[in-house]
Amino acid sequence: MKKIYLLGHPVKQSMSVSILNPIFEKRGMDLRYELLDVKPEELGEVVTGLLKDENCLAFNVTVPHKENVIEYLKDISDDAKDIGAVNCVDAKTGKGYNTDWKGFKKSVENFEVADVATVFGAGGASKAIVYALCVLGFKEIRVVNRTVERAEKLVERFSELFKDKTFKIHSLKESSKALSGADWLVNTTSVGMYPNVDECIPVDEEEIRKLKLVYDVVHNPKITKLLSIAQKVGVNFVSGTEMWINQAKENFKIWNVEEITDEFEEKARELIG
Ligand SMILES: NC(=O)c1ccc[n+]([C@@H]2O[C@H](COP(=O)([O-])OP(=O)(O)OC[C@H]3O[C@@H](n4cnc5c(N)ncnc54)[C@H](OP(=O)(O)O)[C@@H]3O)[C@@H](O)[C@H]2O)c1
Repeated sequence: MKKIYLLGHPVKQSMSVSILNPIFEKRGMDLRYELLDVKPEELGEVVTGLLKDENCLAFNVTVPHKENVIEYLKDISDDAKDIGAVNCVDAKTGKGYNTDWKGFKKSVENFEVADVATVFGAGGASKAIVYALCVLGFKEIRVVNRTVERAEKLVERFSELFKDKTFKIHSLKESSKALSGADWLVNTTSVGMYPNVDECIPVDEEEIRKLKLVYDVVHNPKITKLLSIAQKVGVNFVSGTEMWINQAKENFKIWNVEEITDEFEEKARELIG
């Protein structure tokens, strides 16, 4: 039986397992999706082993391995190289890809691109989303992060890549300034994620009211506290569940199982509610 794994630490209960395995089984596909809890110090050995394992078709990579996995791969796509993170690996070729940014881009395709985006967070998800916002055509990206040095590193990377864009860095205390005149707000932090569903990044209703779009990368719950404020004040909003579904659809192209796309989306939407 061929396997596709999800490598993370800790690797939590994944929605992918409960959606994909019944689909593979029902369609008589000789395939299983399994979780692998991999400690940082074990990553090299595990990845090297999977790339040699004839039964491993592919693997996904999640927190905290998306950056460190790169050094153990044979090749990475140009966009993953630019972003500096890999979340999907074709084990047959040893090549890593970043499908997170494509999932984000696809999930906002119905909204008009504007000039200024304020992005909270500077971790792995932020890198993929800042990249996507630059590709989409935003002119100015403001990065707000608890640890300012991390935002500085991220901005350094993308200023080199996108020389025609303006990047600004803000601490969490400066979030009002970072939102002043902004068009889109994207939360890429884990703030508001289950079980801390009452938490929200430091923004208020009046600031949200002036935006054109509020996006929350958190996919559990579907409607986070941040999105519930956007909903209340009548601003367009998108849940991270859309990015998650769309990145999965990109993974299927790499895994060569595109025939499951519609069924996956239907089951995912049923489960998410
Ligand atoms: N929808 C999707 O498809 C999708 C894809 C990828 C990730 N995600 C979600 O995105 C979130 C972030 O993932 P990641 O990979 O970027 O994680 P990460 O690399 O660990 O980065 C976490 C980010 O959240 C910030 N943060 C964490 N706790 C905070 C707090 N209490 N107050 C303020 N800032 C806080 C961190 O700030 P510091 O730098 O100061 O620590 C950092 O900017 C997670 O909820 C993950 O599930 C969703």
